[in-house]
Amino acid sequence: MKNLKVAFYVTGGIAVYKSVNLMRELIKRGAEVKVAMTTSATEFVTPLTFQVLSKHAVHIDTFSEEDPQYVQHIHLADWADIAIVAPATANTIAKLANGIGDNFVTSALMATTSPIFLVPAMNEHMLEHPATQQNIRTLKSRKAYVMEPDTGFLAEGYSGKGRFPESEMIIEELEGYLLAYKGERPLKGKKIVVTAGGTKERIDPVRFISNDSSGKMGHALADAAWKKGAEVTLITASTLPTRKQIKRVQVDSAKEMYNHVNESFETLDVLIMAAAVSDYAPLNQEEHKMKKKNNVTIELQKNPDILKEMGQKKVNQFLVGFAAETENIEAYALKKLKEKHADLIVANDVGKKDRGFNTNDNEVTIYSNVDQPVTISLTKKDEIAENIIDIVIDRTE
Ligand code: C5P
Repeated sequence: MKNLKVAFYVTGGIAVYKSVNLMRELIKRGAEVKVAMTTSATEFVTPLTFQVLSKHAVHIDTFSEEDPQYVQHIHLADWADIAIVAPATANTIAKLANGIGDNFVTSALMATTSPIFLVPAMNEHMLEHPATQQNIRTLKSRKAYVMEPDTGFLAEGYSGKGRFPESEMIIEELEGYLLAYKGERPLKGKKIVVTAGGTKERIDPVRFISNDSSGKMGHALADAAWKKGAEVTLITASTLPTRKQIKRVQVDSAKEMYNHVNESFETLDVLIMAAAVSDYAPLNQEEHKMKKKNNVTIELQKNPDILKEMGQKKVNQFLVGFAAETENIEAYALKKLKEKHADLIVANDVGKKDRGFNTNDNEVTIYSNVDQPVTISLTKKDEIAENIIDIVIDRTE
């Protein structure tokens, strides 16, 4: 979003108050936003609110041409990298679908050659009206992006479809749309499975064996792969959130994780095992909470090594494993590369407090069977994930 020039069109529905927040989120992410409103929109929130927050005058009247240098609605349309209509009312959607430009907003949108992203928000019956549905289909066929409204509590006091989605959801969808528009989706058509988090091996209904993994690295990898266009499934034992375009499979134990990976393995292109899989699980799981005793012995049995098994089965699948070590990092990483038939092993030192498990940052060295090792110095896990995905792209192209 950095330096993205956004023409932000606000049309008249109760959701206008929510679009103030959306505009702020865009600005926070580095976008420059110029706003135009319909007169109906100004009934809900004053133009001054948008002016103060965007630091630009708000356009409302097509004929108040204060600067003789420019015709304002054409100038705004030409200036912007993207037009966002939020909220988009049934009325403005209808005008746009039918080529009507009878106010500043609709005239500017008629003159727009940049991508158009609409966030419809209206009463459920207005949304479902055949005319609105037809108009939305028309706009989509002209390559405008029309977001699906949310379902929930409407201003009318009942629940239904038509709500303006939360800003975070809109931004997520907008990011994907922008990447797709720019054609930066080298993983389009590729199926990627990422595992994340520390598995939990139940001892009894209230106790389990696990480890310190937060799942941050795996979730960041799933996100980075999705941003590059992949169809991503995230099999996770973590409670961290996921964007809705990523298919999330929630698991507890290593066995559950194994079953899901195994099921999808044949049809996938890339498997990234970022999960910290527990090496052992209790041989027996107690049905009831165990009572206190002075000494307890829990017999453990080895869990399946998911990566190793997939390594033995692989045909064309590209396998990425992790090596979380506290010593002899290189030697252990190279051993894993070979023993697990992996294509990449991402090794990190989990013995240091400022990196690895449970932190936002990491420093890793990536070992492969064809290239020299690559070290990515201490940085955010999001950035590490992007680097790993770039290597995956290079190697799978
Ligand atoms: O053998 P080790 O646990 O150190 O290997 C780490 C790599 O193997 C990680 O990618 C991890 O997700 C994967 N692994 C696995 N199944 C296990 C243990 C580890 O897939 N049971």
